[in-house]
Amino acid sequence: SRCIAVTGAASGIGRALAGLLTEQGDTVIGVDLHGTEVCADLSTSQGRQQAADEVSRRCAGVLDALVGCAGSTAPRPGTVGVNYFGTAEFVEALRPELAAAQRPRVAVVGSISGTQTFDEDIVDACLAGDEKTAVQYAEAAVERGDASLLYPSSKVAVSRWLRRTCVSPGWADAGIPVNAVAPGVVLTPMTAPLLEDEQMRKVADTAVPMPLNGYAEPEVIARSLSWLVGTENTHITGQVLYVDGGAEATLRGPEV
Ligand code: NAI
Repeated sequence: SRCIAVTGAASGIGRALAGLLTEQGDTVIGVDLHGTEVCADLSTSQGRQQAADEVSRRCAGVLDALVGCAGSTAPRPGTVGVNYFGTAEFVEALRPELAAAQRPRVAVVGSISGTQTFDEDIVDACLAGDEKTAVQYAEAAVERGDASLLYPSSKVAVSRWLRRTCVSPGWADAGIPVNAVAPGVVLTPMTAPLLEDEQMRKVADTAVPMPLNGYAEPEVIARSLSWLVGTENTHITGQVLYVDGGAEATLRGPEV
């Protein structure tokens, strides 16, 4: 059986994925704030270190796959902490354990929001690995009323990070593919309050049009993540796979 760590495993997409992998016979190490094998706050560097140490101990130094689902849409600077650093830095911290596996795989969750307007300074600071500066820019954005830029910025940074990382020394050359699934609107506790409100629902439907089958259940996203970290995926790396009911194709059109 493969040993697979899943962040955000207490809810929504991460929880659906942990269930699916367990059903398939994999051993899942869930990581979340509460209610999982490993409990830690991935928005802090200390929390990430503690979680990485504990995952390493639980998988005895050999991690077959890591899936980063933890994330937040809260209009707070900590959102950049969990969505970007809780993904990128956490994956990097576990690279040795992944490299020790026979067929290691990494997948993370991006978002259709990664195609929206974002804050270039936040993204640059993230990619420079400078969390302090990233949080300062995030605080500045909140102060000037641009809190809505934090989430797309964190997701843009994740997709740029994976493009760069996947072909850096120690990843593709060590047999570790790194990909993302970018969902449209998924029916999870994250979106439930938004979709309950008729006005907000209209805003969401305009921002994220999903002509193919509408909103997705978390299991839909879980299945694509499961395939990307499965052993059948031998040659896909550095890709952001939109599992979004046609939202990205609608919004960006044919000339990407
Ligand atoms: P969710 O809110 O149901 O689950 C997210 C999980 O992440 C929660 O269990 C939460 O406790 C955990 N988490 C949040 N902050 C954390 C922290 N600091 N440390 C450790 N764990 C933390 O949300 P959902 O919908 O399952 O989201 C999963 C991923 O999918 C996120 O990255 C989100 O941005 C992304 N996504 C979700 C979409 C949706 O429509 N639901 C659309 C596009 C992307």
